Amino acid sequence: MTATDSGERALEDRFEAVVGADQRVEPRDWMPEAYRATLVRQIAQHAHSEIIGMQPEGNWLTRAPSLRRKAILLAKAQDEAGHGLYLYAAAETLGVDRAELTEKLIDGRQKYSSIFNYPTLTFADVGVIGWLVDGAAICNQVPLCRCSYGPYARAMVRICKEESFHQRQGYELLMTLMRGTEAQRAMVQDAVDRWWWPSLMMFGPPDGDSPNTERSMAWRIKRHTNDELRQRFVDMTVPQAQHLGVTLPDPALAWNEERGGWDFGEPDWSELKQVIKGNGPCNAERVERRRAAHEDGAWVREAALAHAEKKRRSAQ
Ligand code: 3HC
Repeated sequence: MTATDSGERALEDRFEAVVGADQRVEPRDWMPEAYRATLVRQIAQHAHSEIIGMQPEGNWLTRAPSLRRKAILLAKAQDEAGHGLYLYAAAETLGVDRAELTEKLIDGRQKYSSIFNYPTLTFADVGVIGWLVDGAAICNQVPLCRCSYGPYARAMVRICKEESFHQRQGYELLMTLMRGTEAQRAMVQDAVDRWWWPSLMMFGPPDGDSPNTERSMAWRIKRHTNDELRQRFVDMTVPQAQHLGVTLPDPALAWNEERGGWDFGEPDWSELKQVIKGNGPCNAERVERRRAAHEDGAWVREAALAHAEKKRRSAQ
């Protein structure tokens, strides 16, 4: 064994010990290249999802039915922008550049969540996104607060607090609509019918078709499998649907006494594959809008850089 080999082995052992003891890996620590690449992939996708995720609801900002609803929606969209920024900052601690990640998003080399490729057809969609989409995001993201990579785990703490407000505002909006007219109740049911299955798909493919889960679990990036979190979400959501007075569009949904959980039907995995490939109902529109916003913002980035340079020079 060469000195380099033994040095490398010691670094690997130390990394494994830190992860095994549930301590945090920090940016300056040695880490395997594959661990770093996995984190960059996941954190970048997550950041892109937060930023692209502003679009479906942003569609309703100018048409919110009251000043109160508009202020809530505006605050929520701003929170999502903030989440994107924390996450890009967390990714940058791994040696990548945010500008480069954005380029990869807009030229299709990096992904974002499938859920944001569906249209928001009525204002009830705003409520259902809060309840189901943010609810699913919370289920998936609370365990990420215990992720082995320190900057990602810490970013998730604040993000989850804000997501929990987002979920509650969605549920409160839906409760209000359900207390309204027959037409408003029908609008909520229609939105639930459209968003239920895509929300289940947010958790990713079934465990047997998830190439990354095993390794990410071993590294304690992911703390639960996709199917475990999907089940947790269904168990949490069914009683909320009953309280709300809506039907979830799944005839297979049934309480399983033995397991102490809800049985549910199989999502259409071919649809998820198509959406991930870029063939969902709104993929092209979402990416195009992101590209246009990035290009429109070029002058702001240039001005900020010029200002920073001017300050640096005057400090010399
Ligand atoms: N949408 C798009 N791509 C998806 C996906 C989805 N719902 N689910 C899985 N994929 C992709 C994966 O990225 C992977 O592709 P890649 O290897 O090219 O990156 C492939 O499908 C196989 O899936 P795996 O299960 O093997 O992948 P992961 O182990 O990475 O698990 C994940 C996928 C559960 C989404 C995981 O990456 C994760 O937990 N990410 C962090 C949370 C996140 O990004 N959430 C997105 C929503 S953010 C949000 O909801 C904002 C809020 O404001 C509502």
